Amino acid sequence: MKHKGIILAGGSGTRLYPITVGVSKQLLPIYNKPMIYYPLSVLMLAGIREIAIITAPEDRAQFERALGDGAQWGVSLTYIVQPRPEGLAQAYLLAEDFLAGAPSAMVLGDNLFFGHGLPELLKRADAQEGGTVFGYHVADPQRYGVLDFAPDRSVRAIVEKPADPPSNYAVTGLYFLDGSAPVRAAKIRPSARGELEIADLLNDYLRDGGLTVETMGRGYAWLDTGTHASLLDAGNFVRSLEERQGLQAGCPEEIAYAAGWIDLDALRARADAVAKSSYGAYLARLVREAEGRR
Ligand code: DAU
Repeated sequence: MKHKGIILAGGSGTRLYPITVGVSKQLLPIYNKPMIYYPLSVLMLAGIREIAIITAPEDRAQFERALGDGAQWGVSLTYIVQPRPEGLAQAYLLAEDFLAGAPSAMVLGDNLFFGHGLPELLKRADAQEGGTVFGYHVADPQRYGVLDFAPDRSVRAIVEKPADPPSNYAVTGLYFLDGSAPVRAAKIRPSARGELEIADLLNDYLRDGGLTVETMGRGYAWLDTGTHASLLDAGNFVRSLEERQGLQAGCPEEIAYAAGWIDLDALRARADAVAKSSYGAYLARLVREAEGRR
């Protein structure tokens, strides 16, 4: 099954005010690249090349400037405006024409994932019928959608931001759903906070046995960028990882070249375009390595 991709990058970013008064949260830097590079890389690692980016009306032009049409990475980027932040599940209504019945992998534009085996985990989800979501053990489940397990450890419900969480397993912001998602989303009514809740959509899949819940084990990092402190922590995490390894996390050029979606000339052009930064130096190194030099 080949999923189309959605990056949900709207919202008002009020929890990061005053930073996000003038710029979209998902364009803020996580160390050396815009936040949205990381979820974009996740979709690309899943093998997805047709991607819609959902933005707030006032931010659309900035996203287009930052990411273009995707050709530089061998992908196709389409921009869709969400007039008001009326909930995660609304993305499926907005993207209905783009999806045209295809299954989708939606990632939240502020969710960062790292971990050995991530491409395999993603490809497994891509091959799965119905829907697949990922549970991740966290210290503060009340801030997320939370898995409620039956005694036999099957998942019986997903509860959004429960005051009294039924488990420590949060549902991450990465949702592989089949082509029925827009029709199911159309049945959802707004919650008390006025949003079309992703939990309601996922529970609809659960009710007819159509949802696979995979656990992302402790070998994965799923990072939060929701507060000033966690934003800085995420940047420091990426910096530590990259400086130790000498490899970049969330580098779309590298993923595209490895996948054969862009050729060496295209990689070289990208390296030249950002040559003055350490990111550009990394791309130049990839070019040299591809040419058999170091
Ligand atoms: O991060 C995972 C969590 O994301 C899940 O565990 C929850 O079930 C899910 O509801 C969501 O919770 P958040 O509290 O993080 O949702 P938030 O309202 O902050 O929105 C997440 C991102 O999606 C944020 O970057 C803004 C964007 N967004 C949000 C809404 C409500 C939109 O683009 N449009 C929207 O309408």
